[in-house]
Amino acid sequence: MTVYPGAAEYVPDTDDLEAVRAAAGTCHGCDLYRDATQTVFGAGAPHARTVLVGEQPGNDEDLDGHPFVGPAGRLLDRALDDLGVDRAALYLTNAVKHFRFERRGKRRIHQQPRRTEIVACAPWLRTELDLVAPDLVVCLGAIATHAVLGPRAEVTELRGHTVELDDFRVGVTVHPSAVLRAPDRARSYTEFVDDLARVFEMR
Ligand code: URA
Ligand code: SF4
Repeated sequence: MTVYPGAAEYVPDTDDLEAVRAAAGTCHGCDLYRDATQTVFGAGAPHARTVLVGEQPGNDEDLDGHPFVGPAGRLLDRALDDLGVDRAALYLTNAVKHFRFERRGKRRIHQQPRRTEIVACAPWLRTELDLVAPDLVVCLGAIATHAVLGPRAEVTELRGHTVELDDFRVGVTVHPSAVLRAPDRARSYTEFVDDLARVFEMR
């Protein structure tokens, strides 16, 4: 059995986010790199005041190389539009940088990252947050919330609220994919936008 070292030993000692991104491209910190197409690192404004954290790249992001370009990303774009928030002013990233999936015929079905993979990948997210140095970090869903606030943090309790950490505030809401899957999608969307408005301190 191969023992993977985690991402820490791949993170270069530099303040240059682009150099960090390049290094992440060759990370073998856990086994997810083997089947995925490429590392999907964070993207957006390098000194954004707000960072959004998702779970992991999905099928579209894995092929494209950028976060939130598939269906979940389109729903997120619509929510940001409705709030009048410019996506280009944000920095978007994920707790885990490689797509974890299971093959079913020709399809690749998303699988949640394991706790070990979230922990293995955490040094990349930590480095992004250090270098971007935002005021607000918004966690989209449970995996992001666990990655930023620890495994006991509950989205159902925290959604729509912010928690003060030493370096930034952390806001919590659900994952946009959960809105897409919700039985009452319209209501779930309204609640999602409402959470974002509250963590952005718009209402
Ligand atoms: N879901 C995520 O959590 N992140 C992405 O980048 C795309 C879908
Ligand atoms: Fe490295 Fe994270 Fe990819 Fe694992 S998921 S190989 S830790 S970048």
